[in-house]
Amino acid sequence: MISRELRIVYTELSGTEELPEAWAGLVEAARKIAGQAYSPYSGFRVGAAVLLANGTVVTGNNQENAAYPSGLCAERTALFYANANFPDVPVVAMAISAANARGRVNEPVKPCGSCRQVMLETEIRFNQRVKIILDGKNRIHLFDGIDDLLPFSFKPASLKG
Ligand code: THU
Repeated sequence: MISRELRIVYTELSGTEELPEAWAGLVEAARKIAGQAYSPYSGFRVGAAVLLANGTVVTGNNQENAAYPSGLCAERTALFYANANFPDVPVVAMAISAANARGRVNEPVKPCGSCRQVMLETEIRFNQRVKIILDGKNRIHLFDGIDDLLPFSFKPASLKG
């Protein structure tokens, strides 16, 4: 028997001023689109902004439904739109921001498990890592790829056993 340890790597920044300009703009886009979320049931607004390799920025927010499971998270709304409309253009980075009734959340918003799985598929699809920027009022967390957010993932190789 052996105990193994997993190393998770991410960068913590105090705010957008510590980010390269292009990514600061991506965070701004995520904050803005969060304001247009359709979330009458949770009151929680999430925005996602996706930067593509051709410079296009695609945004999305959470879309809720009275039949709760029919709704969709911001991250998947944005990624599915990007992949539907730009099927051959790799995704380079994604910023996520969220707000509750008191305003923007203090701590970096963490994407749900289903969205992490879709981010992984996007990396696999384009064979390149996607930078993930998680926005919070107190700090920002930056991940170089989905591996550090979704270790032990189910992926194409898993299908082969
Ligand atoms: N939500 C997102 O849009 N992204 C996440 O990663 C977590 C949760 C949405 C789903 C639902 O509309 C609301 O936030 C509360 O869970």
